[in-house]
Amino acid sequence: QAAAASLPQVCEPSVYSDEEYADIDWNNLGFGLMPTDYMYTMKCTQDDNFEQGQLSPYGNIELSPSAGVLNYAQGLFEGTKAYRREDGRLFLFRPDQNAIRMQIGAERMCMPSPTVEQFVDAVKQTALANRRWIPPPGKGSLYIRPLLMGSGPILGLAPAPEYTFLIYASAVGNYFKEGLAPLSLYVEDESHRASRGGAGGVKTIANYAPVLKALTRARNRGFSDVLYLDSVNKKNIEEASSCNIFIVKGNVLSTPATNGTILEGVTRKSIIGVARDLGYQVEERSISVEELMDGDEVFCTGTAVGVAPVGSITYQNKRVEYKMSAHPMCRELYSTLVGIQTGLIEDKRGWIVDI
Ligand code: COI
Repeated sequence: QAAAASLPQVCEPSVYSDEEYADIDWNNLGFGLMPTDYMYTMKCTQDDNFEQGQLSPYGNIELSPSAGVLNYAQGLFEGTKAYRREDGRLFLFRPDQNAIRMQIGAERMCMPSPTVEQFVDAVKQTALANRRWIPPPGKGSLYIRPLLMGSGPILGLAPAPEYTFLIYASAVGNYFKEGLAPLSLYVEDESHRASRGGAGGVKTIANYAPVLKALTRARNRGFSDVLYLDSVNKKNIEEASSCNIFIVKGNVLSTPATNGTILEGVTRKSIIGVARDLGYQVEERSISVEELMDGDEVFCTGTAVGVAPVGSITYQNKRVEYKMSAHPMCRELYSTLVGIQTGLIEDKRGWIVDI
């Protein structure tokens, strides 16, 4: 069997730079790719077991033109972040949840997956090797992107004969160009992101290219992101291209139930936990676009996006602006989450993982 993705040159930890910070402008981080020093690669061949992985300098990889991922989109990705605290501690936020989600996605996409321990260890190694790219406290984070792909060559439609787990990282700040200002969302009623029985609930690469057309059209019209409706009734909201959505009415927080068409976001899950701890009623259920437009406040969540207030929604030429422009519940939930991450609030659930 020809190896499809050849491993780059391996590095020993002794070559890591001891310099504390990379020489970049930490005050202007956005979400553009800023390649870091190292990436991590681990392969799986015949027996569904991943072998010992290794760090190597960040760079291009070699793939067979007939790799399963290139031909049949047999691939998944994850997103998690490493942060730096005021006391210098470096930590990850719930990386085990990304590992479990990758396992669920791999099962759906007919791929073997790393164990939770392998995944978390690899993320830690990648973050540590690139620690000079973890921004100063409050300036951003190191976005860590684990990939799982069918890297082996295949022509007829079938699972690839070899898999590669690869992690790279980039220093990031705010996802949206709006920064922390409220977003404007466009509700798409022509195309759909996911359908029942499909793969919308897992983080396959195949879910992202199909939204680019609607997203580009909306961005060209000045919107921040696109919100998709369910493909059956075309009336219930699902998620945005890059994040989950929440609506506040009175003291109740609601979000669309994940029923196989909506991604189970780690930030979504964490915000639900934080809101329940603070005594709010949280409902996971169907939410119509009309109900969304009648909300007091609306916000989006995601690893890349964080917790982002929504200022307006546009649906079929009707635009609503939210009355609660200060987004009090969104702010309270976000500051509680950040409090847990920065150590100001006790981490009772063991969400913080030191590296
Ligand atoms: C993330 O939040 O980590 C994502 O993968 C979203 C992506 C569209 C940037």
